Amino acid sequence: MKLKLATQQSPQALISEAVKKIPPSGIREFFDIVYSMPDCVSLGVGEPDFITPWRIADMGMYAIKDGYTHYTPNRGLPELCALISEEIQKISGAHYQPEEEIIVTMGVSQGLDLALRSIVNSGDEVIIPEPCYVSYGANVTLLGGVPVYVPTTFEDEFKIDIDRLYSTITTKTKAILLNYPSNPTGNTLPRTLLENIAEIAIEKNLIIISDEIYSSLTYDAKHWSITALPEVKDRVIYLNGFSKSHAMTGWRLGYIAAPKYLTDMMLKIHQYTALCAPSIAQHAAIEAIKNARRDVEKMVSEYRRRRNYIVGKFRDAGLACLMPEGAFYVFPDVSSTGMNGRTFALELLKSEKVAVVPGEVFGECGKNHIRCSYATSMENLSEAMSRIERFCAQMT
Ligand SMILES: Cc1ncc(COP(=O)(O)O)c(C=O)c1O
Repeated sequence: MKLKLATQQSPQALISEAVKKIPPSGIREFFDIVYSMPDCVSLGVGEPDFITPWRIADMGMYAIKDGYTHYTPNRGLPELCALISEEIQKISGAHYQPEEEIIVTMGVSQGLDLALRSIVNSGDEVIIPEPCYVSYGANVTLLGGVPVYVPTTFEDEFKIDIDRLYSTITTKTKAILLNYPSNPTGNTLPRTLLENIAEIAIEKNLIIISDEIYSSLTYDAKHWSITALPEVKDRVIYLNGFSKSHAMTGWRLGYIAAPKYLTDMMLKIHQYTALCAPSIAQHAAIEAIKNARRDVEKMVSEYRRRRNYIVGKFRDAGLACLMPEGAFYVFPDVSSTGMNGRTFALELLKSEKVAVVPGEVFGECGKNHIRCSYATSMENLSEAMSRIERFCAQMT
């Protein structure tokens, strides 16, 4: 058949306006340069260097061999939902009904998407403390929402200024998106600040989305979850997962806990867009919750050792560096070298072949900082830090 061709119009004009609005990830752009450089030591990667503990990996393999290769219930395997509910109760003290208030997702990434999709209408505002994980703003924008950033400062140890947060609320504000322990700063929020945020959410009728993916990786004090505050639990969407705590980034498994009126909506979206999280990963996750506590503790104690080392080294090199309370990142201020984070990162890469992430990719208020991940071997860390010390000595 011969097609009758009308005047050609560009198919590129068909791209959605929302997707055109979001910039490509600043981290990716930077790491395209890094990948082309042999001998580069990278402190840029935001995932555990450990491989998944063997008992969890074995359970995944058994699941395949035993034929657990089908769809699971949309919400997730009932045994896993029950274990997740117990786990959340252990971490935060909050109880969620496994049959109604838990959904197993493809990582916290999908959990975040479902949470936002269930509440954001076009033009709605979502408040996000900055510096923040790079995906948050883009996820809000993709839905036609508006991310409203609340900057925090090194001087305030990146804790939220409650008055500042309050003053950004408008009639269009739908939610506040929290992430503690934080990527990129590693800081956490004290209970008093969480209470202040809860009070605001109640007064202004807002949802709180709490991404607690680093909750197992805290080093000095027990993690505090906002969902532990009973007054606010009916408006919290709690997100967590296995990527960071159990070194399972590639398994793509996370979960949501929220009141039924929200999970009912999120489950509808999940049913139509994903059906269910991967069955094999769900079987592995059952083992992760049941029997891998010691494995997690070992990783946490190694991260603590590395954190103490890297913070000490940055301070020796003359950079101001807070002691992060969780996650596996440090966020030193490099302005004493006369450079901003971006110039510092580019010069360091050129002259010493060490890759770090410029702080500006996490928000304007991170522009004098760099993010360094200590989810890498002690050998790599020590090589990177001696190169950084040499670099800083030349600059100051
Ligand atoms: C704060 C934060 N949330 C979510 C994610 C994505 O997690 P997942 O692998 O569970 O999708 C990351 C990954 O770096 C992260 O740092």
